Amino acid sequence: MTPPAKAIALARVTRGTHATTHIPRYLRQAYWWAYIHPRAVRLFERGWLVNLILFGNYARLRDAALDELGPAVEGRTLQVACVYGDLTPRLQQRLAPGARLDVVDIVPIQLANLAGKLAPDERVALVHCDSTSLHAADATYDQVLLFFLLHEQPEIVRRWTLAEAMRVVKPGGKVVVVDYHRPAKWHPLRPLMRLVFRALEPYAHELWDSGVEAFLPEQALPVATRAKTFFGGLYQLLVLTR
Ligand SMILES: C[S@@+](CC[C@H](N)C(=O)[O-])C[C@H]1O[C@@H](n2cnc3c(N)ncnc32)[C@H](O)[C@@H]1O
Repeated sequence: MTPPAKAIALARVTRGTHATTHIPRYLRQAYWWAYIHPRAVRLFERGWLVNLILFGNYARLRDAALDELGPAVEGRTLQVACVYGDLTPRLQQRLAPGARLDVVDIVPIQLANLAGKLAPDERVALVHCDSTSLHAADATYDQVLLFFLLHEQPEIVRRWTLAEAMRVVKPGGKVVVVDYHRPAKWHPLRPLMRLVFRALEPYAHELWDSGVEAFLPEQALPVATRAKTFFGGLYQLLVLTR
């Protein structure tokens, strides 16, 4: 499907040396119903539904991510992958006057959908590219945000995504990850989430089996890591300082 004119006007299509703009097979096979089909976008782009999927924790997790980026977001920020809901419009509202926000995604309809949620703004660019081959030079960004992306990616893709996030963030800058986390044994939703993962999210259990840090590249380990869990440990905020 062709993105609407507004999306094309907002998007800067920049490709890295090894970039592919083909929708990866894992996404077409496992998540066509969530991100690719036009009806999926119409269905899921509802605040209440996104909040329901997160058992009422959407605002809490969104605000934890935004607060980590700052009350006023300065410098250059990269959001890797679009998300349903109002995370990015709220991030846009926090941008300081001279700040910049780039949002990348591999699915054009997701960029088009996001463009429809944002006010026209020269500080914001939507970029069609793969998280495993980002468009930017080393040490371009002050901070990078990955909001519920890693659990949807197969291990090799997750490793490349994290390696790219660590590559494009400046030394001293941070990579902020919000995603699933292995909940406490007593967690009443643990059996349900196992079933959900088995049926719909084939790679998500890997974030229960290992921490996110296990997928970081050895050559770009963070100098500091800070973690916080939410909702009995089902969700996590991880801050990796480059
Ligand atoms: C951030 S994740 C999950 C978001 C979460 N379920 C939500 O909407 O609140 C979904 C996005 O990741 C994007 N995505 C998945 N794999 C990607 C990749 N390799 N490169 C860029 N974007 C990717 C999808 O196209 C989709 O827009």
